[in-house]
Amino acid sequence: MRLLKASSSASAPLKVILFGEHFVIYNKPAILAAINKRVYVDINVRSDAIFAIRVSDLYEEASINHIEESKHQFTRLSQPIFITAYNTLRRFHSVLGLDIKIMSDIPFGSGLGTSAASSAALITAISDLFNTLNKDDIFALTIEAEKLIHYNTSGADPAIVTNGGLIMFKRREEGMLIIPLIYSTELSFIVVYSGISRSTANLVNNVKSLRENNPIMFERFANTSEEITLKAIEALKSKDYEKLGSLMLRNHELLQSLGVSNDTLDKLVDTAINNGALGAKLTGAGGGGSIIAFGYDSKRLLNAFKDHHVFIASIDKEGIRVE
Ligand code: PMV
Repeated sequence: MRLLKASSSASAPLKVILFGEHFVIYNKPAILAAINKRVYVDINVRSDAIFAIRVSDLYEEASINHIEESKHQFTRLSQPIFITAYNTLRRFHSVLGLDIKIMSDIPFGSGLGTSAASSAALITAISDLFNTLNKDDIFALTIEAEKLIHYNTSGADPAIVTNGGLIMFKRREEGMLIIPLIYSTELSFIVVYSGISRSTANLVNNVKSLRENNPIMFERFANTSEEITLKAIEALKSKDYEKLGSLMLRNHELLQSLGVSNDTLDKLVDTAINNGALGAKLTGAGGGGSIIAFGYDSKRLLNAFKDHHVFIASIDKEGIRVE
């Protein structure tokens, strides 16, 4: 396909999972929100066959002429970026060297979907070089990119970062169901980073083992997650924020039973509740990452977490975009 530009910039929002993480892999519904923090990707076409990747302070480069060997020249952070860029270019029957620069409003590993947002923004920027932006293709390629990192991914993170807004996401035999939730999009959350980075793939694997060893218990948990998520949609619809808050707490307790919380996350949730939050829970895979909380008095909550990485996140209606 014909290259129409020599450079492009694109971005994608980060996300929080409000309800249903982990069980979403096993075809139960989840609710996700895109937040007003983004990952930005700048790309420039090079005259040689080198991919040069800059992510925050990290700089790495390798030749695309020897893809199999080159893959191993990158660290775990930039290797999926390299492969995703390569695969996306191949979609356009193109072999080009690229300078790729990735910048995130929030540090990598905070459990807010930086990997999915990086991939989606990178794929968008590359598609823009050929002037062919198709959200469905970008979504599909972002899922492939996520599989390089998380192996077994539900597709929920790629869905929210490409689409933006507030969505209900469900994986089904017949394909993924993505329903935009148009109610309560004015909601904002406090996001608190635990300071512990973790591997989503490991946590997903632990849950897989638990499911294999205790199928009946897991089924019960999964049904509870579904019940909580469906009730949360009703609470969002009717703007019943007390109800929404108590459902968030129930969801956190369920994730505790699943074994993906820890003392640090539980303490952060307790601090939020003790400081007037209507609800709080870990968000994403758990084991570290971040918690979310919301309440009427955001100032009090921010103050309670003043020694942590904390910010107020509102819902970003926009998904991927060319900058
Ligand atoms: O680690 P995060 O915040 O990107 O969330 C992963 C969410 C899981 O449900 C645990 C995995 C998935 O693929 O949906």
